[in-house]
Amino acid sequence: MIAEDFILKNYNSSVESGSVKWESPSNIALIKYWGKKENQIPENPSISFTLSNCKTITKLTYTKKDLSTALKVTSDFSFDVYFESEKNEAFKPKIQTFFERIEAYVPFLRDYHFKIETSNTFPHSSGIASSASGMSALALCLMSVEVDLGADYTSEYFNKKASFLARLGSGSACRSIEGELVVWGQNESTESSDLYGIKFDGEVHPNFKNYQDTILLVDKGEKQVSSTVGHKLMFGHPFAEQRFAQAHDNLAKLKTTLASGDLQNFVKIVESEALTLHAMMMTSMPYFILMKPNTLEIINKIWKYRAENISNVCFTLDAGANVHVLYPENEKESVLKFINDELAKYCQNGHFISDFIGKGAQLIEK
Ligand code: DP6
Repeated sequence: MIAEDFILKNYNSSVESGSVKWESPSNIALIKYWGKKENQIPENPSISFTLSNCKTITKLTYTKKDLSTALKVTSDFSFDVYFESEKNEAFKPKIQTFFERIEAYVPFLRDYHFKIETSNTFPHSSGIASSASGMSALALCLMSVEVDLGADYTSEYFNKKASFLARLGSGSACRSIEGELVVWGQNESTESSDLYGIKFDGEVHPNFKNYQDTILLVDKGEKQVSSTVGHKLMFGHPFAEQRFAQAHDNLAKLKTTLASGDLQNFVKIVESEALTLHAMMMTSMPYFILMKPNTLEIINKIWKYRAENISNVCFTLDAGANVHVLYPENEKESVLKFINDELAKYCQNGHFISDFIGKGAQLIEK
């Protein structure tokens, strides 16, 4: 499909008001998206596990603006944001940018006033990327409004366009619509698109069923460098081309590994991707480091644990200091004990979140 296929063409503009509510999960990339072109097109393919517990719940209420047709065209977007029941101004610029990017595909945006009420299941400012769950939840709400206004979509088209819109809010958000593994970015190994995420079409060995992700909250503070800035630093980066090629290679290798159930290979690919992501940050200009001393303490403890036990526990990182500890379901008890005994002390206030692979977003109310 091409971008033009996502333009809403006919809709019933006489609908006065309504509300919809979605919950959408976060996701954790195994092959990392780092570097993008114009219009949120990724420089390389990525694949992620969709999560279950870490999610955003968003209610979108829309009310027709009382404007003459002439005024509507020039009127600005009108929306209020409530985060955890309190009016929030800080989120508005991101949503304004999102609306600007998607307006061509969602032409009724200036016709309505929107009340966006949102909350997360994970603690506020836990340093967990909330843009993936937040932007995907909002995109899904807008898709439900399209349906309210008379659009007749197959669930396949609905999900594709939701992912397409979510991508324009935040790249990684396009991987949060469905589960359990989602690929985004054109590549030779899987069915794929640069415009939206697609459920991984390869075989997945039972070893990966209910895969666990315990998120260790090493640093809950605001990051010094945002992902958006980080992506930009891949322009003219001395290792960029090699990195993009490596992501393609790693995706091909991961596909084989997911089919065979070879957990040792899985560990190698996933940890190498995490460290490569941070190596790109450390070798960009300006360079920066998002890991904290405790991030490294945890990584070393995981390596020691793996060397001393028969275990396939491994780590991955997103663009921050927190550590995602990934492990098969049959190691749940032993790894949780290890985390409690040896890793929790490196977390802020001993805080971590237990999560596992999930099936994607859900409509809560219409
Ligand atoms: C390191 O999706 O947050 O988590 O498109 O600018 O919103 P924007 O970036 P974002 O980048 C996420 C980068 C990452 C890797 C990944 O999730 O693939």
